[in-house]
Amino acid sequence: MSELGRRCLLSMIGASLVVGAGQSGNAAALSAVRKESREPYEDKVGALLARMTLEEKLGQLQHLAWAFDSNPGSGSTTEVERAARAGRVGSVQSIFGAKATNALQRLAVEESRLGIPLLFSLDIIHGFWTTFPIPLAQASSFDPDVPRSDAQVSAAEARSNGVHWTFAPMMDVTHEPRWGRIAEGNGEDPYLTARFAAAKVKGYQGSNLASKATLAACAKHFVAYGGAEGGRDYNTVDVSESRLRNLYLPPFKAALDAGAATVMASFNTISGIPAHGNPHTLTDILKKEWAFGGVVISDWAGVQELIVHGFAEDGADAARLALNAGVDMEMVEGNLLTNGAALLRAGKITQQRIDDAVARVLRLKYSLGLFDDPYVEESTAIPGPTSAARAAARTAASRSMVLLKNDRDVLPLARSVGSVALVGPFADSTDLLGTWAVPAAAERFPAVRILDAVRKAAPAADVRHARGVDPEGEDTDGIEEAVAAAQSCDVTVVVVGEPATMSGEAAARSDLSLPGAQEKLIAAVARTGKPFVVVLVNGRPLTMGDWLDSAPAVLEAWHPGIEGGNAIADVLFGTVTPGGKLPVSFPRAVGQIPIHYNHESTGRPYKADDKFTSKYLDLPPTPQFPFGHGLTYTTFALGAPEADRTDITAAALHAGDSIEVTVPLCNTGSRTGDEVVQLYVHDVAAGIAQPVRRLRGFQRVTLAAGAATTVRFRLGAEDLGFWTNAPKGEFRIEPGRFDLYVGTSSAADSRLNVSIT
Ligand code: NOJ
Repeated sequence: MSELGRRCLLSMIGASLVVGAGQSGNAAALSAVRKESREPYEDKVGALLARMTLEEKLGQLQHLAWAFDSNPGSGSTTEVERAARAGRVGSVQSIFGAKATNALQRLAVEESRLGIPLLFSLDIIHGFWTTFPIPLAQASSFDPDVPRSDAQVSAAEARSNGVHWTFAPMMDVTHEPRWGRIAEGNGEDPYLTARFAAAKVKGYQGSNLASKATLAACAKHFVAYGGAEGGRDYNTVDVSESRLRNLYLPPFKAALDAGAATVMASFNTISGIPAHGNPHTLTDILKKEWAFGGVVISDWAGVQELIVHGFAEDGADAARLALNAGVDMEMVEGNLLTNGAALLRAGKITQQRIDDAVARVLRLKYSLGLFDDPYVEESTAIPGPTSAARAAARTAASRSMVLLKNDRDVLPLARSVGSVALVGPFADSTDLLGTWAVPAAAERFPAVRILDAVRKAAPAADVRHARGVDPEGEDTDGIEEAVAAAQSCDVTVVVVGEPATMSGEAAARSDLSLPGAQEKLIAAVARTGKPFVVVLVNGRPLTMGDWLDSAPAVLEAWHPGIEGGNAIADVLFGTVTPGGKLPVSFPRAVGQIPIHYNHESTGRPYKADDKFTSKYLDLPPTPQFPFGHGLTYTTFALGAPEADRTDITAAALHAGDSIEVTVPLCNTGSRTGDEVVQLYVHDVAAGIAQPVRRLRGFQRVTLAAGAATTVRFRLGAEDLGFWTNAPKGEFRIEPGRFDLYVGTSSAADSRLNVSIT
């Protein structure tokens, strides 16, 4: 540690600033059955149910899709309009706009027999008008305020435009960077994902769903969708009960504890049983163990696909299996609506189950206030991003960036720089929004281009642009022009990455390198010998070829959203100091996948000089960049972590007691910056082999140059216990030794031990 660092640490003794605290676990809360919050509307729901015909009940369980930008009466949505009048639909997706939603709502409220209002839903994954960075990027912020602000802005914009329900947040933990949907989630860690899922749910739902500035959230996809074999979307997942409960379920539990109103089933099988027909996950765990009183919706045609899975004989069988397993609403296909009455007559489904499903839908409509006021005020519909919303998106994007490499402090660039070459296919592109931008928003409110933002940030500089290559395709003709620009400028920024269409649903890749001829462009710029920076805009971890060694600095900007250009310029010129960390490991090569920090130990862990250990002959055992990695423009020193006690009993933990871990942190550099202090736990010997490390606490801290603080974490039952393979799940805290690691990435090596007796 430097002299400055030492002085900084010394000065810190007795520092009074307390920076937050980690989650404290509480095993009692884990096993306690949540009380369903259905009381407020129960009488009304019961009275309405009593007036409904079977067809009207089945109608409430039907979810249909609108033809996006069309208006009622346009002809392209006649089926939905007819269903609304007949009371044969409960909710409609992809309709928005105060006028359009009011018009369709009127058909249901004024023309159907019972006048039950419709729910309107939309996939608002990272923004409605104001597109925030993709969720994987947001996870890099290690700051739950980022997803919270996205959700609050989305909710205000969308609700004022008639939308009640978003199909978000997505919380599928995954170890599969080939899977395109990694962009929609929060990466490879269940704890980080759980914290983010809870924050996003609270951001969408606020404290009152009827408030007209909130949206009902949907925790999706239930469950283990991120385990898709080979990273191919929709693929098989074979998972043990312990992995299901330790890896895939915690974010859902956290989202429901935060109040998530709905859950969506996933497309995959879970150990042979499709998620849409899986009573263990949908009913035993979700509805019984967790006492979830909300709506379970199928994914798009997920009920119908039970036939394709080879699980159901036909549509009627699919409807029976899905409803009995716990699905309440069917998205787009009408298997339940068509076959429900016959299934009931045949005794294959029960009236009680139908009524339960309908009650869940009605309860949601009551909680949204739709029976009191089904319409929205057309004159106050938010027409586009406000300046406050843009500012929030800009902050979110810059907080989400990860400085992967910065040799010789190439970054930040001086504002007084004489000339900058901006090259690459994304330098002057609006393709920065990422997957799942709402189509109308992408069209009307495109992303700020990096070229424009850099010109604004350094008005005196001579900024030259050359595209160089396309995002895809092998044409290298433009490279010469890019090289000439690089040669003529003081510094070059090469902006490369993936188009938005390369991640998201049904967008798996087998090759994770930069597509097309982009690596050739970087190599050509490197050959000029002039300083340069690579900015990556992408939706998943990429593998980096030899170009990584040649690039002095690499900034992972992900798909940064509407304010992407400005946020990138903020970080390039040091207006904002980058402080994000990777929420997912970056492999060196596709052949290493799955590679993630939270793996179990083999009996023969890697040893360089021992052939018979777990490794590849042709690659180091480590990822290119580990989970939790990220640099900044200043330097930090972490002191030795301490625990307030070195042993605790399992009984005390179960009763809610905890261990406090503290660690001193100093900014030893010369500018204000952020560090994310991370706490990892390893149960050294357990009844089920435990991950070598599990993240159980993080704090993103901003410190001025020379400032010091103490970061505090609390470790409770949830942090030290684990779920076993018992068929119905068993949460255990086992006595023994635990290693705790505190550091600034998952490669942290500052260790202390505690014991449970
Ligand atoms: C399919 C996707 O899997 C899901 O995430 C989405 O919410 C639905 N389609 C509805 O659009």
